[in-house]
Amino acid sequence: MIALAVVAALQEASQTRPVDIPVGADLAERAPQRDSLARPLGAAVAVAPARENAPYLRRLVTGFTSVTAENAMKWEALEPREGRFRWPQADAIVDLADGLGKRMRGHTLIWDQQLPGWVREREWDAAGAERLIRDHVRRVAGRYRGRIAQWDVVNEPLDPDGSLTPNLFTAALGERYIDIAFDEARRADPDARLFLNELGSERPSPMQDGLVALVKRLERRGVPIDGIGLQNHANVTNPQSTRQWLATFERFGDLGVDVEITEMDVVIPPKLRTTPARLRTQAKIYADAARACRRTPVCTGLTLWGVTDRFSWLTPQRRPLPYGVDGDAKPAARALMRALEP
Ligand code: XIL
Repeated sequence: MIALAVVAALQEASQTRPVDIPVGADLAERAPQRDSLARPLGAAVAVAPARENAPYLRRLVTGFTSVTAENAMKWEALEPREGRFRWPQADAIVDLADGLGKRMRGHTLIWDQQLPGWVREREWDAAGAERLIRDHVRRVAGRYRGRIAQWDVVNEPLDPDGSLTPNLFTAALGERYIDIAFDEARRADPDARLFLNELGSERPSPMQDGLVALVKRLERRGVPIDGIGLQNHANVTNPQSTRQWLATFERFGDLGVDVEITEMDVVIPPKLRTTPARLRTQAKIYADAARACRRTPVCTGLTLWGVTDRFSWLTPQRRPLPYGVDGDAKPAARALMRALEP
């Protein structure tokens, strides 16, 4: 029993002790200036590879001007047990961005996934759910007030048919859970641009229609929404042209909101071999998105969901990122930089 208690205490301590992502002076000097590209180019970052894998850190520092947290700001990571916050990993990523002069995107405040058990397992009535959301948003957005350029306030609220996904928040509050999250985020960090982030809405689809309709309803209710995040988890077998991107940006721009591509990766299905032609296709898909973004005033930037293939959430076998497993620059790396050259 005592041994168990000691182990638990040690674990607790290791998760609450400050974490640092050390960047040598030589490397830090090679970090691009924040506004050196036509649009910020971002990467989702995890602390462990940034600390333990030199090519990952090198590409992150030198190849990107914006950063987001891949998992460290999700509810289950920040507050696994009620009231016991674990900030070190999220703090380390924000400190890294600040130290290197990179833009920081916050991801994500309210989502029905990666929730801690204590949130998932309880039954919330309307008043309880509203308090739960407000407390969480105030705690997290408040902690980083003034340091986050954009927050993904609500993540993935829709089903593929464009309707609201039923979850614990809608069960208690209906669509109003979204209004509450944005309202509290605006209070907690008035200078952050507030985004709603969604998947599968990059091209005309029932989901895109549902997203447009949702934005209109939010605007009618006076909800302080500034932008739409389009995740864009893409695939070489289904390229999206610059022209198609421009149409999408126009559709959201007409609603008066900004647009950011927030989680781009471009899968090469494992059964397809890595050939120069296929890598060029991947590069073109990245570059077409970037070119469309820079041509559109309301497009605020392009964030990739990872840095090197080795640590991609989609596994290295799918080769989705511009940098290979050992940080080798694939054609996509060059194509992206050229597309975003000032
Ligand atoms: C993913 C992370 O990359 C994984 O490490 C984690 O296991 C699951 O979540 N949409 C999102 C991101 O909004 O937060 C998800 O990130 C990928 C899909």
